[in-house]
Amino acid sequence: MKLDGKTRVFGLFGDPVEHSLSPLLQNAGFISLGLNYCYLPFRVSPEKLQDAVRALPALNISGINVTAPHKETIFPLLDEHSEEALFLKAVNTVRNENGRLKGYNTDVFGFSFLMERKMQRKKEPETVTLLGAGGAAKAVAFSLSYFPLKELIIANRTGRKARELAELLSSEQRLSRENVHVIPLDETALHAAMKRSTIIVHALSSDPFAWSQFSGEWLSSDCTAIDLRYSPRTTPFLDWARSQGTAGINGLDMLHGQGLQAFEIFTGKEAPVLEMERALLTAVK
Ligand SMILES: NC(=O)c1ccc[n+]([C@@H]2O[C@H](COP(=O)([O-])OP(=O)(O)OC[C@H]3O[C@@H](n4cnc5c(N)ncnc54)[C@H](OP(=O)(O)O)[C@@H]3O)[C@@H](O)[C@H]2O)c1
Repeated sequence: MKLDGKTRVFGLFGDPVEHSLSPLLQNAGFISLGLNYCYLPFRVSPEKLQDAVRALPALNISGINVTAPHKETIFPLLDEHSEEALFLKAVNTVRNENGRLKGYNTDVFGFSFLMERKMQRKKEPETVTLLGAGGAAKAVAFSLSYFPLKELIIANRTGRKARELAELLSSEQRLSRENVHVIPLDETALHAAMKRSTIIVHALSSDPFAWSQFSGEWLSSDCTAIDLRYSPRTTPFLDWARSQGTAGINGLDMLHGQGLQAFEIFTGKEAPVLEMERALLTAVK
């Protein structure tokens, strides 16, 4: 990678940022296409976010990704939003278009990418149990609304957030309200929901249960369990789901997919899928 007066600068805003794989992923893409671009992590504290956003046009930074805790708070600081960002009221990618800042949410595409890559197309519409109602769960729900769905069951610790997500999906006409059910995040309700699900998505930032304590038949053999976490590559939820005889998929493809779309938003060029994937696979053990 050569750096000179013509280098275009991209980056990541978050707090912390040290753990992020985005610099590795995006720089691998830039190098692969021979672009004179570079991507840097910027640790931005919540109280400095507004100053940092204002600095993007001032410093001629071409684009940024956004991670916790800024995905929602950056939303009102931008000039324009994509359809997904407007739905989620959350942004993970910003493009500086001649001083106007447009926010995108590429987690939606990331989850669709995972589904396309890892799931066999089925004739029957899916019944999905979604664990969580935070930012990632919302992106998953928006993405799922493009797939044929029989039923979406949302379970969250804070029931209000799950009900708000269900209402949002129907008010935006993404899914009909009769097809979306909200249940408590407890053993009895989950058992009933999971037994009839063909896909279960774990979109929680930590585990509410020791999954291995749930013995007996919980999941059918044609069910697929997805955990959005990716490092380490397996999780207690996926280990338990596999012990029930189902397929288990981690969130690495979602991370890859969201990065591919961000790359294309940043550069206007087709992302080098395999080279960017290789960079991720070397980093995640
Ligand atoms: N693969 C990818 O590309 C990708 C992308 C985005 C996120 N993720 C992963 O997805 C997960 C969720 O991220 P997020 O951005 O949605 O976070 P978030 O907005 O903070 O949401 C966290 C979710 O976890 C629930 N939760 C947290 N601690 C809990 C506990 N002890 N018991 C029960 N529920 C608990 C929250 O419930 P309440 O609403 O009750 O607080 C909420 O539903 C994280 O592990 C993140 O790393 C992966």
